[in-house]
Amino acid sequence: MKNKNFDFIAPYYDFLSKLIFGKRLRIAQISLLSKIPKHQRILLIGGGTGWILPELLQICQPSEVVYIEKSPKMIALSQKQVPDFCPIVWVCAGEEKFQEYGLFDVVFTPFFLDLFPESKLDKQIISVLNSTLKPSGNWLLVDFFPTNHFYFTFLTKVMYTFFRYVSGVTNAQLVDYPKLLSKHNLILNHSQEWMKGYVKAQLWQK
Ligand SMILES: C[S@@+](CC[C@H](N)C(=O)[O-])C[C@H]1O[C@@H](n2cnc3c(N)ncnc32)[C@H](O)[C@@H]1O
Repeated sequence: MKNKNFDFIAPYYDFLSKLIFGKRLRIAQISLLSKIPKHQRILLIGGGTGWILPELLQICQPSEVVYIEKSPKMIALSQKQVPDFCPIVWVCAGEEKFQEYGLFDVVFTPFFLDLFPESKLDKQIISVLNSTLKPSGNWLLVDFFPTNHFYFTFLTKVMYTFFRYVSGVTNAQLVDYPKLLSKHNLILNHSQEWMKGYVKAQLWQK
């Protein structure tokens, strides 16, 4: 991404997501939360408006959530989703801060990896996030996955074009995430999919 970020789209993001996908993207993000042990330290990257936070706090009862989100407007919306005194550390920043908050039991990337091309994911995102994960820690990945289905290929192109102009997203292609996570020695324990496999929720373990 260049200078643009998700600030402009922040007030409309959840509305647009529901308009296009209904409740599916929310269901996908919540679906595997119950597989995560309770009272863990969670690193959540790119949480958007933070609609998931009440669900995450209720289902996982984390000891702490470090919430790293690059858009100041998204962070401001996220802070309105939860009470003042809850175990969340708010960090308005990008990947330069991923390693500054110690080790985590869980890394959660909801529709975040799709923002980056394969080489950056491999060398600067997945390797860095993996280094923040404790041994046996879990990585909850929820994202769009590459597909041969014509409609979803078209939809991916439309979304990347839209987010290029509105939010400065420079990536234009979905990546084979399982290949990269396996390469970094993570093992797939649970997987669920929606829309013919276009959207998947996967729980990987270090
Ligand atoms: C596609 S949105 C997903 C939002 C949310 N997870 C959801 O599904 O509703 C991606 C989010 O990642 C944030 N983001 C983009 N680059 C980031 C970075 N380098 N570090 C942290 N957050 C980032 C954006 O501001 C945006 O809120």
